[in-house]
Amino acid sequence: MAPRRPPAWLLRGLLAGLGGLALVSLLGGGTGEELLSWSLAPFLGGGGRFLPPDPPLPGPDSFLLPNVEGCGPRAPFLLVLVASAPGHRAQRQAVRASWGGPRWAGGQAVRTLFALGAPGSGQEQARLEEEAQRHGDLVQGRFADTYANLTLKTMMLLGWAAAHCPGAAFVVKVDDDVFLNLPALARHLGALPGPRRLYLGRVHWRVQPNRDPSNRHHVPAAAYPAGAFPPYCSGTAYVLSGDAARGVLAAAPHVPPVPLEDVYVGLCARWAGLAPTHTARMAGATHYPLDPCCYGELLYSVHQVGPQAMGAAWALVGGEGGSCTPLHRGLGVLRWMCCLWLPS
Ligand SMILES: *[C@@H]1O[C@H](CO)[C@@H](O)[C@H](O)[C@H]1NC(C)=O
Repeated sequence: MAPRRPPAWLLRGLLAGLGGLALVSLLGGGTGEELLSWSLAPFLGGGGRFLPPDPPLPGPDSFLLPNVEGCGPRAPFLLVLVASAPGHRAQRQAVRASWGGPRWAGGQAVRTLFALGAPGSGQEQARLEEEAQRHGDLVQGRFADTYANLTLKTMMLLGWAAAHCPGAAFVVKVDDDVFLNLPALARHLGALPGPRRLYLGRVHWRVQPNRDPSNRHHVPAAAYPAGAFPPYCSGTAYVLSGDAARGVLAAAPHVPPVPLEDVYVGLCARWAGLAPTHTARMAGATHYPLDPCCYGELLYSVHQVGPQAMGAAWALVGGEGGSCTPLHRGLGVLRWMCCLWLPS
């Protein structure tokens, strides 16, 4: 007599169970990191400091294009400020034509504007003014638009948000080569319980200052002597609640002028008693190939999406250009988790 084989349904059930367990434990990695960042808050220092009620706001002299109407007649729930450079016209156009165009996403009012500094020539400035007239979505600070002035750009855009769009519940800073799944992010933020101070992004832990003077990320020991930065959110895309953004602004005069935009915001946040919250759904500096699950569902932000790819990525959010089937989802989650564990 042949040994009795287990029935097929049992095998299928076992396989499905194993697959499910693997998935939950994989997803658990992200959840674990999020729990860690929550529990970190009391240890980050700066606690007990109250935000000064009035952080210094930029005056009219701070802007070349102040765009005081940019916020719109009613403040959006989510204000997205894209750090761009004067010459990046194609990038801005790609963002306008994709995720940055709609005024409504994930059930929330949203508004996307671009933040720039001053270009090198009057001719370039004239072109920017023309672009501003046509689209109404540029905010320009009065400083040279250089890599070394990126920190200035961020503080300018946060200052603009505080001065000219104070009703926005959340401010997102994002680079112009980042794809933002604005509907997914707006849905997530809209579902958070009650108003709370938030500094959300892909958190970098214990990053050491680069001491090589020839490196463009060089931080002299005189500016920042400690051996590691406090945890900060990757500058590719991060979210600040309105009050957290004002806290960062209020902290700026008390924080050493580290020329790295995201580290600087992290230092300001710590001064303001604000702990970063990690989300694995923001890809930080990692790039992902176009995939209906990664772009359409799993991730809030993906780095290094050029102007040519932005439209294709955005089509994936709408379910065009391939939808996220269960098979895709499995592969997408696996790829996403693999990338999570790579050093970023
Ligand atoms: C930053 O902008 C200021 C104001 O325009 C300018 O004087 C300075 O040279 C810029 N710094 C760098 C490092 O580009």
